[in-house]
Amino acid sequence: MQVSGDFPSRVKIVEVGPRDGLQNISQVLPVETRVALVDKLTEAGLRHIEVGSFVSPKRVPAMADSDKVFKAIKRKPGIIYSALTPNLRGFEDALAAGANEVAVFCSASEGFSRHNINCSIAESINRFNPVIEQAQKAGIPVRGYLSCVMGCPYDGDVPVAQVADLSQALIDIGCYEVSLGDTLGIGTPLQAKAVVTNVAEKVPIAKIAAHFHDTHGQALANLYAVMEEGVAIIDAAVGGLGGCPYAPGASGNVPTEKVLYMLQGMGIKTGVNAQYLKTVVQFVKSYR
Ligand code: HMG
Ligand code: MG
Repeated sequence: MQVSGDFPSRVKIVEVGPRDGLQNISQVLPVETRVALVDKLTEAGLRHIEVGSFVSPKRVPAMADSDKVFKAIKRKPGIIYSALTPNLRGFEDALAAGANEVAVFCSASEGFSRHNINCSIAESINRFNPVIEQAQKAGIPVRGYLSCVMGCPYDGDVPVAQVADLSQALIDIGCYEVSLGDTLGIGTPLQAKAVVTNVAEKVPIAKIAAHFHDTHGQALANLYAVMEEGVAIIDAAVGGLGGCPYAPGASGNVPTEKVLYMLQGMGIKTGVNAQYLKTVVQFVKSYR
């Protein structure tokens, strides 16, 4: 089938299962299991895999030992193995563990910022500056996440102008792309479109990623809506794992295998082996 209209002909999938997927499950998985998951995702042809995060293990116990996971995975050349880093310490640990990309994360709402990373939005941006400075020196690209772009569990509605301004701020401080998080999974398609069109007035569409949780079963519809606007970077988690411990009520990320099914049906290329990914879905089923 040919791709028609304004849809992208190719989409980059950022697989966040080993990080967003596993950070919120009740059990802390052994390092070997986390390594096996990353290796299977590499085999499936995912080219950008978020392996873990370097945050306080007291706050997110499931992400402890991310350094051991990084050290044990079988890397393939050209694949990005990234880590979430909230501050300089996290960046230094990620670098030592061998992450070849990092992501800083910030919220579009003050309430979530406080609960998630224990500081204001402005303070969080200030913390990212030294991370980006060191990353640039080390030749490590930095991705930026912006959470709660469609609403906050603590503050409610989030003004779209604030989402656009903070997206621009993340690009201005040196992030190469900004991933717009519907952290709660509460957005609907026209809202998603409105968020993206507003952000696209300040950030080139090629630098905008969609990171949609699927609490109300809207994530695929929301992705369709933003792809119509030209978004060609999609975050997803195999098996629909995921959620944030500080986003009460949120469910998992949009499942990678469902995104692939939709994209294949639309004739949009990803480079991921959908058949092999099914075996990875089976592998993670017991962690849901
Ligand atoms: P803090 O609470 O402001 O306090 O931490 P601190 O800086 O004084 O540190 C507190 C403790 O954490 C200290 O240890 C530090 O040493 C330690 P203690 O003295 O209590 O033993 N610490 C660290 N440990 C390991 N690695 C570090 C580090 N930094 C400090 N890098 C901090 C701030 C951000 C670290 C903390 O609040 C935290 O870890 N929060 C968890 C944030 C998190 O991982 N949230 C989930 C990921 S975000 C998400 O899921 C959303 C996303 O998917 C997009 C979306 O869906 O919208 C990305
Ligand atoms: Mg998330």
